Amino acid sequence: MASQNAGIIGMGHSYPEGILTNADLEKIVETSDEWITTRTGIKQRHKAAENEYTSMFGTEAAKRALEKAGLRPEDIELIVCATTTPDQILPCTGAIIQAQLGAHNAAGMDVFAACSGFLYGITMVESMIRTGQIKYALVIGAEVLTKYVDYTDRGTCILFGDGAGAAVLGPVPEDKGILATKIRSDGRFEEQLYCPGGGTKYGTTHETIDKRMHYFKMKGNELFKVAVRSMAEISAEMIEKAGLAVNDIDLVIPHQANQRITDAVASRLGVPEEKVYSNIAMHGNTSSASIPIAMDECIESGRITEGTTVLLTAFGGGVTWGGTVLRF
Ligand code: UT7
Repeated sequence: MASQNAGIIGMGHSYPEGILTNADLEKIVETSDEWITTRTGIKQRHKAAENEYTSMFGTEAAKRALEKAGLRPEDIELIVCATTTPDQILPCTGAIIQAQLGAHNAAGMDVFAACSGFLYGITMVESMIRTGQIKYALVIGAEVLTKYVDYTDRGTCILFGDGAGAAVLGPVPEDKGILATKIRSDGRFEEQLYCPGGGTKYGTTHETIDKRMHYFKMKGNELFKVAVRSMAEISAEMIEKAGLAVNDIDLVIPHQANQRITDAVASRLGVPEEKVYSNIAMHGNTSSASIPIAMDECIESGRITEGTTVLLTAFGGGVTWGGTVLRF
């Protein structure tokens, strides 16, 4: 069967208007703007209001991506929503977004791969377009993490923010689009970042709530090391698989987990600082939404134009990780 290159043909992003600054956090937990800035690079993060939820941002980002791609919702055959913070357990947020968009010819589904979810979606959809199974798909990373954050735990509550980014994928000419992509996981590291309550293992009870089991738990320090190693390794592997050298990469967009993680990955790869995009100061860690939000910002600011070769790499709870090399 003939192979069809798949690429991103439109992007959009959206986030709540509400902002939580480091100064706001100083009033909630024992922390300081100085500690958060030097240890993470974060200055503020967007925070959804009580009546705002994940699909709202996912749908808005998807609408903007469709507009940029010049497509109608009916043209989309698959909607992959990467999220760790779905609207509710059933139905999946992908189907909710499908209804909100009016994308009646699509199948909607969720990918539960934490911060690597967007790259999981891209990797799955790429092969479906390449083999001609579908023509156009939406891959969305959407999160309202602040509703899963324990605001008594200063080790996690300073990190996370809310938002969504979306990409329309479709056929692109040879030499363009996704040149190499790969996803990985290692469930043995489960307890480095997890949310134990509310599932079939520890169903929601007064006890699980009293024990704060419905909030994210993280061993940040251990995760840090695995994150740097995994992202650097898979990035190098994907650059090689794409038939490129590190110098051929015009822009690196890593998952925005911590500025120090980004710096360490770039340094391991030998990529100069000016080729690495960071928006963590303004958004914090938005999990699966961080890469598509960052990509769309780069498109809007002109850092990504036709012909730009981009390396994406992500790492998240699971643990999961991934790398993608693509040319616009
Ligand atoms: O998106 C998924 C992937 N996410 C990640 O990979 C996150 C990876 N981890 C990290 O980004 C970092 O580990 C953190 C930002 C979470 C923590 O930074 P760290 O440099 O690893 O700090 P630490 O956990 O080793 O803690 C150092 C000290 C501790 O105090 P002692 O034990 O040295 O007295 C902490 O209690 O900093 C303390 N600390 C804080 N102090 C002020 C921890 N959190 C805070 C805080 N404000 N918010």
